[in-house]
Amino acid sequence: MRSFAGDLAGLVRRLDHLERLGVDAVWLSPVHPSPNVDWGYDVADYLDVHPDFGTLADYDALVAEAARRNIDVWLDLVPNHTSDRHAWFTDRPEYYVWSADVPNDWRSVFTGGSAWTWDARRKRYYLHQFAPQQPDLDWWNDDVRAEFDAILRFWFDRGVRGLRIDVAHGLVKDRELRDGVEHMRNRPEVHEIYRRWQEIAAAYDPKPTLMGETYVLSLPELYPYWQHLDLAQNFPFVRAGFELGQLRPIVEQTMAHLPPDRRAVWFASNHDHSRLATRWAGGDEAKIRAALFLLLTLPGVAILYQGDELGLEDGRVPPGRVVDLADPPRDPERTPLPWTRSGAEWRDPWLPLEDTSRNVEDQEADPGSILHYTRDLIRARRGLDDRSYETLPSPDGVWAYARGARACVLNLTSKPQVYDGERLAPWEGRLV
Ligand code: GLC
Repeated sequence: MRSFAGDLAGLVRRLDHLERLGVDAVWLSPVHPSPNVDWGYDVADYLDVHPDFGTLADYDALVAEAARRNIDVWLDLVPNHTSDRHAWFTDRPEYYVWSADVPNDWRSVFTGGSAWTWDARRKRYYLHQFAPQQPDLDWWNDDVRAEFDAILRFWFDRGVRGLRIDVAHGLVKDRELRDGVEHMRNRPEVHEIYRRWQEIAAAYDPKPTLMGETYVLSLPELYPYWQHLDLAQNFPFVRAGFELGQLRPIVEQTMAHLPPDRRAVWFASNHDHSRLATRWAGGDEAKIRAALFLLLTLPGVAILYQGDELGLEDGRVPPGRVVDLADPPRDPERTPLPWTRSGAEWRDPWLPLEDTSRNVEDQEADPGSILHYTRDLIRARRGLDDRSYETLPSPDGVWAYARGARACVLNLTSKPQVYDGERLAPWEGRLV
């Protein structure tokens, strides 16, 4: 949000770009009031908008303007933890997870130290999987569940068509607080929460989509999330190298296990991972196009992170400008989107804008640009059978797959290849 358009009114002004791109929905990073220890992922009030971004009225205007362009608005819901400045942390301590002593070996993702911090006010330790300023909620408490039921309804009533659920695998902790990370995250009891949320969503037409940030590192751990989430984000895919030998088995296994009423979801960049143009493509334009081809021709849902459509690389953030608490900092993948070569649209952005060589204005004017390529792919994908995937025989380094009557062929090597009599340039993807 901060780096795409600055605020909600700015986003409304940029909707034309999204409409031309052809997207169905836009997922906003958290928009709620937050002290920004973790840039919005420490929520201080789930029922309002951060003044940096505008007001609830601005949010309503966004939903209305987006709807006029057939674009749905999705929010990022953070149910695992709140900010320590949320009123609940003071007024409703029983909403959180406490212990008289440090009960186990659980570690904080951000500090690497114990996930338990002493609270002098309560004279007990509280749990935080992330920063100490992000206390974990106790999802065994029925009142916590009821609060979130109301939060869901509040936003669904306001026209939210989808939720990206932060740390979706982490909400429920082992009741006995046993040692081992397997007792802190990815517990079987979490699915019941999503079953309940689907009941709430089902009262709306169209039913809002529930997509989990299901950050599990193996595919078998991912499959159970399809019971009650519409979409379960595939982290083995995003964390794989840009190589046929790594990616194809992930896609094949995902598709082989996908239930008939579910769709796969693919992404290769986000606010926590280096952008695909850098991590997968090393800045090489042909490889960037290959990555976009793959992302946008696999069956199911594709998520582009802002800037992917330009082949935008990670930004350079000098040590004095770092604002993220994670180590290494995630600032490079969060730098502002260049709308023009001059970058004059950004006055004093939160993160530096240095390289504007890939920008919207220039690429808009160039029919051969990555932006036009991405748009063409998005248009073409509408003609593909949405659910089917079948690997086709192909020479080494070439990935060929059937999508209904069409075949997608992608040369994942730096040499020309021939597939079925067709000559493919290095890194070229083609629909045949
Ligand atoms: C998720 C978010 C990440 C955040 C973390 C803690 O992983 O994507 O940005 O820091 O949750 O809320």
